[in-house]
Amino acid sequence: MPLPVILDVDTGVDDACALLLAALHPGLDLRAVTCVGGNAPLPEVVRNTLTVLEVCDHANVPVAAGAAHPLLERPVDARHVHGDDGMADLGWTAPTTTADPRHAVDLLRQTIDAGDAGGEPVTLVPLAPMTNVALLARMYPESFASLGRIVFMGGGARVSNATAAAEFNVFHDPEATAVVLDACADHGVEVAMYGLDVFYEPRVTLAQCDELAALDERGPAALAAGLMRFMSHRFDTDSATIGDAGAVAMLVDPEAVRTERLPVRVELSGTWTRGRTIVDTRDWSGDMEHDPHGLAPAQVDVALEIDGPRIARLWLDTVRGAH
Ligand code: BDR
Ligand code: CA
Repeated sequence: MPLPVILDVDTGVDDACALLLAALHPGLDLRAVTCVGGNAPLPEVVRNTLTVLEVCDHANVPVAAGAAHPLLERPVDARHVHGDDGMADLGWTAPTTTADPRHAVDLLRQTIDAGDAGGEPVTLVPLAPMTNVALLARMYPESFASLGRIVFMGGGARVSNATAAAEFNVFHDPEATAVVLDACADHGVEVAMYGLDVFYEPRVTLAQCDELAALDERGPAALAAGLMRFMSHRFDTDSATIGDAGAVAMLVDPEAVRTERLPVRVELSGTWTRGRTIVDTRDWSGDMEHDPHGLAPAQVDVALEIDGPRIARLWLDTVRGAH
């Protein structure tokens, strides 16, 4: 049976890569997509998300708009990385579909509840600032508690990008990530973190983009090639990471990613460290009595190593329709 999933996205070049994989891989059943402001402002995120789903012939998947602003921070976007339209400025035809009228939090709740009622707990995959997910945890804790699992892109044990200390998604809304991790601990929801320690490793080369682009003109392969070429040129390299798509790939090929279950907290108050994920890698055979902070309540399966070429191959095979 394909795994039922919901993606929460800020599309975003690499969110688009993740949507392609989630829509097209036969091992996944994409039940809904919720949008949040992040890489681009919310209206662009919704439009980009609808575009990708239409290109994959998945326009029937409901897409809902959620939070335009983080809980506390002021919104910032990353169009300097993802392009003026937030998705590589490819000039793609505007989608013919429109967003679902429900708020993202309501779409999350109803999709999770339906999965639970049908005996198929849903896996939630947040690939963006976790504002929508934190609101779900606070507004509908019973629905949150009935999630099968959360696998999120964000944070890092050793690697950062938005600041010297923090990864973009967590930095954008640190309170939201903290709320979600605490809620996972409170409700016993398993949570995995696909962070920057592995994020950059599954890569697609420009030569592979040429092969993809030859497969169709306005279909998933052409879109995938355009996205990856854009990022390669943006960073002046001959390859680009599939980014958020790696977190989705981890669902279908968990053996390609080594995780360790570790306590994780989010730094909410540091001068230079706000938004950092504090991944506790200490050896717990020692005496804990003298640590005034104690153990973080959230035990997270942190991705620490990845077989990048294997995950990139999975993504390439999926977008070219080989599955
Ligand atoms: C994350 O931030 C965004 O720019 C990407 O879409 C990804 O989710 C990486 O830090
Ligand atoms: Ca993202």
